Amino acid sequence: MIPVPRRRIAGPPSLALLLVALVGLVAPPAAAAATYPYQDPTLPVPNRVADLLSRMTLDEKIGQMTQAERGSVTAADLTTYRLGSILSGGGSAPSPNNATSWADMYDAFQRGALATPLAIPMIYGMDAVHGHNNVVGATIFPHNIGLGATRDPALVQQIGQAVAEEVSGTGVDWDFAPCLCVARNDRWGRTYESFGETPDIPSDLTTVITGLQGPSLGGPTSVLATAKHYLGDGGTTGGDDQGNTELSEAELRAIHLPPFQAAVQRGVGSVMISYSSWNGVKMHGHQYLISTVLKGELGFSGFVVSDWNGIDQIDGSPGFTAAEVAAAVNAGIDMVMVPTAWKTFISTLRAEVQNGHIPLSRIDDANRRILTKKFELGLFERPFTDRSWTPTVGSAAHRALARQAVRQSQVLLKNAGGVLPLARDNNKIFVAGKNADNIGNQSGGWTISWQGSSGNITPGTTILQGIRAAVGPGTTVTYNQRGTGIDGSYRAAIAVVGETPYAEGQGDRTGSMSLDRDDLRTISTLRKVGVPVIVVLVSGRPLDIAAELPGWDALLASWLPGTEGAGVADVLFGVTAPTGTLPMTWMNSVSQQPINAGDGQVPLFPQGYGLTY
Ligand code: GLC
Repeated sequence: MIPVPRRRIAGPPSLALLLVALVGLVAPPAAAAATYPYQDPTLPVPNRVADLLSRMTLDEKIGQMTQAERGSVTAADLTTYRLGSILSGGGSAPSPNNATSWADMYDAFQRGALATPLAIPMIYGMDAVHGHNNVVGATIFPHNIGLGATRDPALVQQIGQAVAEEVSGTGVDWDFAPCLCVARNDRWGRTYESFGETPDIPSDLTTVITGLQGPSLGGPTSVLATAKHYLGDGGTTGGDDQGNTELSEAELRAIHLPPFQAAVQRGVGSVMISYSSWNGVKMHGHQYLISTVLKGELGFSGFVVSDWNGIDQIDGSPGFTAAEVAAAVNAGIDMVMVPTAWKTFISTLRAEVQNGHIPLSRIDDANRRILTKKFELGLFERPFTDRSWTPTVGSAAHRALARQAVRQSQVLLKNAGGVLPLARDNNKIFVAGKNADNIGNQSGGWTISWQGSSGNITPGTTILQGIRAAVGPGTTVTYNQRGTGIDGSYRAAIAVVGETPYAEGQGDRTGSMSLDRDDLRTISTLRKVGVPVIVVLVSGRPLDIAAELPGWDALLASWLPGTEGAGVADVLFGVTAPTGTLPMTWMNSVSQQPINAGDGQVPLFPQGYGLTY
């Protein structure tokens, strides 16, 4: 079968191609005649799956259940080992890191997969959790905590669609997003990946799944979405990443399950298992929650993927054993993310089937689930990148959408004397703070690299650049990171402070959750000259600022806005009034953590709080 460029139906064929085709120089690739039923797109998917499955060897079935990291495989390995999936871990990118290189890389791996006897296309997964964030030049949207502050399902669906276009333009067809975690303790390093501390907000914002996948799989930019991390990742004791969620089943179901129910109802194609445990039992081996509840009770018909080396954690010792492979697959995990040890996994899984520890019926069920999604995505007919979407990466239209999302995500928490909005004309403004002119800091983790990093890491507009662009010619804007040089002639000072990038457990804060010394010193420098001080907090979570707040004239929670920092300036100058409301309760003191709506504690600001002009 001769695969044709994927999603060739997407955009109108280019004029050049039409002209060339018309003169017969290059006939558009004709769809090859189907040799086997599974290759016939006119047949119902279940029939195609059944036919294909009947032709597969055990090794081909095991290959479909194996996901390896791009850095530890070659295209030839996909052919030899029949690998069904490749992933990019956070920051794992081709060089040069640009959209075209990604598409070239994807197509090369795909050619390796199609060079197998049954030509089963591979599916490529990565974390596009706030835009196509591994790719330099991509549009970086606000992280989920900011989107939660918008309470706008339609906006979030639009963002999903935009991300799907950029992801499709690089060939990638599977997004390990959205995180539907319900973050209950702000100490957790993944709090910013949560849409909110109560299940209603992430449930409402599962519209991002429809944006990513389309109304059904197989559309021109349809990308398989992933509801993650199942189940209870945001509920661990102490906010300990990959820790233990100690709840009754009734509490677990009430707090953490609803977003997954909503995702399944929206037809989410995959679910990723959490590293965390429930009452001491690792989720990666939890047959009741994975098979009985998720697949049985909720009726999830997609496929379940493990997290990065997640099966290694089942017995608490490093690496995975045959027993862990059997426990994970028998629990209901269909595809195993084994980034580097994928050859060992393949031989171990084969042995566990041959010795009867894993029934062939479980292998066939896993393959049916995986292959069904590959057929529904259209991968068999359009396995290669549709390059007509590549120019959408970082496009002006997507950046405009991101800027709108930044505006709507801003939460105004204090505005003494109506110091905001600032006048755009005939003003004199001093800007300070480590997060004022730093694309890396305002984007946070999962940006270009796994942990993210400070600095000019990708094209975008810093908050300071947004401020400068917003003001009229008669206004002076002075910037100094530490506030050095400010005097009483300024009409206002803006301190853009908060956190620097982190991801996952490296972001867990077990001690203080206050501003760091540099930020406090900067704000103090500004306050000394007696001008109004507006604090803009760029952080992945609420911070412990109650003691300092009385000395601030205004406080704007900006969260992690991404590349379009001008959206923050739009609110500071009243281009748009702030409309965001807190998705998380804001502590009065770190000693209150965890603090959540309805727990009886008195917060500094309750969930749902937000001022406007
Ligand atoms: C990580 C994360 C998960 C991500 C996966 C692949 O450890 O827990 O959210 O999708 O690995 O990068």
